[in-house]
Amino acid sequence: MLILGIETSCDETSASIVKDGTIIVSNIITSQDKIHAPFGGVVPELASREQLESIGWVVKEALNKANTKFSGIDAIAVTYGPGLAGSLLIGVEFAKTLSYSLSIPLIGINHIHAHLYANFLGQHNIEFPYIGLVISGGHTSLFYVEDFMTYSFLGQTRDDACGEAFDKGAQILNLGYPGGPLIDRISKKGNLSAIKFPRAHLENKFDFSFSGLKTSLLRYVEKKGKISKKELPDIAASFQEAIVDVLVKKAILAAEYKKTDTIVVGGGVSANSRIRGKLEEEGKKKNLKIHFPNELKLCTDNGAMVAGLGYWMLKEGKTSSLDLDIQPNIF
Ligand code: KG4
Ligand code: ZN
Repeated sequence: MLILGIETSCDETSASIVKDGTIIVSNIITSQDKIHAPFGGVVPELASREQLESIGWVVKEALNKANTKFSGIDAIAVTYGPGLAGSLLIGVEFAKTLSYSLSIPLIGINHIHAHLYANFLGQHNIEFPYIGLVISGGHTSLFYVEDFMTYSFLGQTRDDACGEAFDKGAQILNLGYPGGPLIDRISKKGNLSAIKFPRAHLENKFDFSFSGLKTSLLRYVEKKGKISKKELPDIAASFQEAIVDVLVKKAILAAEYKKTDTIVVGGGVSANSRIRGKLEEEGKKKNLKIHFPNELKLCTDNGAMVAGLGYWMLKEGKTSSLDLDIQPNIF
């Protein structure tokens, strides 16, 4: 069965064809990084306009790469939230129109659940239940996941998402946008314990907070005045460690609390080399099975994760009507 997955929740426009839920036949992603870079973050109005320009050719390209036509598609899955309202509307309206004109099922997909599903593309050895850690530009959340449809919320960030912290940190350090991959790269040359940046302790042990860390970096840089090229990797690595340390500790704590031996990580920040290394290392000590998406391309926003999850929802009869509305704040 071939499902077309459409993802337009933020600043990537993506369309993908996935066979039987796990085999990626095509996965076209176009990013708006260059458009938002001068602003140091995503500008919603620009993002939605760009989505509108891209959606048509991206879907066409996904069909071409898969060597198929609209008539070869069995159903359409689309992200309906969470995300930016204007961006979500483009994908949802496009998908509804296709579903109606082709007379094929429409499946509304939760973007956060799709990020976790990215782990099931091309690898099938993940057992339920697991702790799901979603770390991206818009989200930092922990879930207890019993199957593809059943998610219990454990905690989330109270302020900035961890990807946002990476992006704002990179802006403070004048590195560019998006900040995550840049901090990741430069940190490899730095000492991660050079500077002791703060870790937030919150009442709900599964909640996160990164705004204090960002302020602390800003104060550090202001106090220093000028940051030398030699110092930069140490600052970046210490800042990154403060984020990664909390994510790793809380994910393991959640696994112990829920008595499960599996942690699944998704979202743009799951591409980070330090969180991959540290969670594997700490998880091993506790006999935990740790999963990250197979490819870095599947960590950030993509249509394949949407199409893949759509397959299982369709199998369960969880389709959407043409009344499907966007839900920018759902979690
Ligand atoms: O999942 P995603 O594409 O979009 C949202 O749903 O938000 O995540 C984008 C975020 C950005 O904040 C970006 O800086 C971060 O993921 N990111 C990384 C890395 N690659 C992307 N953060 C840390 N290290 C990376 N290697
Ligand atoms: Zn995302």
